[in-house]
Amino acid sequence: MLTLNSQLNLDGPFSLLRAARLKHRAFSPFRNAIPSVMLALACMVATPASAEVRSVTANPAEDCSTQMNIGWHADLGETSCSVVYTQKSDAAWAQAMRVAGKSKRSEVFDGIDSKTSDSKDWKEEAKFLDYGVTLTGLKPDTDYMYKVAVDDTVSTDPARHFKTAGASEFSFLWLSDVHVYTPLPRRTDRLNTVFDAAIKIEPSVDFVYSTGDVVAWGGSYSFWKKLFEQPFSSKYMFADVIGNHDWMKRRDGGNNEFFAVAHNNPTNGYAGQEGVSYWFIYGDVLFMAFNTEAMRDGPEAEAEAKAWAAGVIEKQKGKYKRIFIAQHYNWFDGRNGKSAWYDHWKDFCDEHHVTLAMSGHNHVYQRTHSLWDDQVVSDGLGTVYMVAPSSDGERGVEAGPLTMNAEKLAFTYSSHVYSTDGQVRTVGCVLVDVGPKSIKTRLVYMDEQNQAQIADEHTITTLPTDASRSALPSKRPATKTEKPAPEVTSGTMMQ
Ligand SMILES: [Fe+2]
Ligand SMILES: [Fe+2]
Repeated sequence: MLTLNSQLNLDGPFSLLRAARLKHRAFSPFRNAIPSVMLALACMVATPASAEVRSVTANPAEDCSTQMNIGWHADLGETSCSVVYTQKSDAAWAQAMRVAGKSKRSEVFDGIDSKTSDSKDWKEEAKFLDYGVTLTGLKPDTDYMYKVAVDDTVSTDPARHFKTAGASEFSFLWLSDVHVYTPLPRRTDRLNTVFDAAIKIEPSVDFVYSTGDVVAWGGSYSFWKKLFEQPFSSKYMFADVIGNHDWMKRRDGGNNEFFAVAHNNPTNGYAGQEGVSYWFIYGDVLFMAFNTEAMRDGPEAEAEAKAWAAGVIEKQKGKYKRIFIAQHYNWFDGRNGKSAWYDHWKDFCDEHHVTLAMSGHNHVYQRTHSLWDDQVVSDGLGTVYMVAPSSDGERGVEAGPLTMNAEKLAFTYSSHVYSTDGQVRTVGCVLVDVGPKSIKTRLVYMDEQNQAQIADEHTITTLPTDASRSALPSKRPATKTEKPAPEVTSGTMMQ
């Protein structure tokens, strides 16, 4: 989605009231702020905007303590959309502000081979205006609510929410690999089941993180639309990482633009990766997301991503204390422990003292011990590599006995019950609680009786990236690493 960093008009909420009183004129809701009375009236008389506006999402902006990106898509004729927002505590919307959206036309999804929800072949019909705004000047550690307005009509849909960073502790729910596919709505049902179970366990979740494959075919706009209709999308900021399924079409390759247009991520990635590879800061953590579809092109592409990331780490120094990285392809293979992309990132993680490395794709949950120089070290000194489980309950890969890297992998999990297509029924997600000096992770999954279970609850102490690590052993001479392996252990061109 289009990101707008330019300063938008944000008059105080009372400016229009004052002007209206002074001039005794009819109030114009097209202006920049909407007093509560007018907003309430607009809400009462409005017709639902859902026909014109879809795929609304709150994505991170660079500084999540004072900024948030909102994105949505609108019919081509809806050229005057805006976001109305206020603090959640402002129940009457008395302090509501309005920010005009800017848009660009998108036809990237139009005409792409896909399927209808009743499983018929069809070509996506998706020409729309891709809207985005960056809200600025937000109050840290604050719950906000927002709605999208079309012209002067505010949506009658319930308000949507996000929370700004700024608290000394925060939590996020990490999901992966739901492969939303409209002919099989049970996939999103299962995600929602485990999502709700996790929120019951940890009601203070501040945002949602995803390590990709959220849709079965990224080229199928109707799948993205379905994803953003799920309840979590309206309740939380959503930070997503592109997966192979998000990139691909039903047939004939894929396109980064599918992911870029579906979200309104910061456009701070390297050339060709704007809105796809990106970084943001939440609390004292620098989050960096990488595009494995780009990096699988070979060592040069991987080096380009790492050079960008190293530059961000250097330039943002002082604004963060810890680093979390994320990509879609898995660090290890949970079927046997074989290294996959761990080999390609371990030196980077060592050099930059990455605290947590997150990935998905394998569909098997994994957590390593703290690793540095390819060996287990004390908590805080190394990097913990984790892979989120799948959440759709039918494309799971079965965790097997670890015949490799057993000393590094502390825990793996998958369901062991097979689905109709021969894969296991894993439905899980991960809760991550980030304290000032520690991180707690919990695997939440639905068991065979559809009961929520918590497993692998683990707390690890952490150190700032620039802390002294004198307890680390001397680094051993470099060993030759294997050539990058695509390791598409799951999620092939099937849905
Ligand atoms: Fe997947
Ligand atoms: Fe994948």
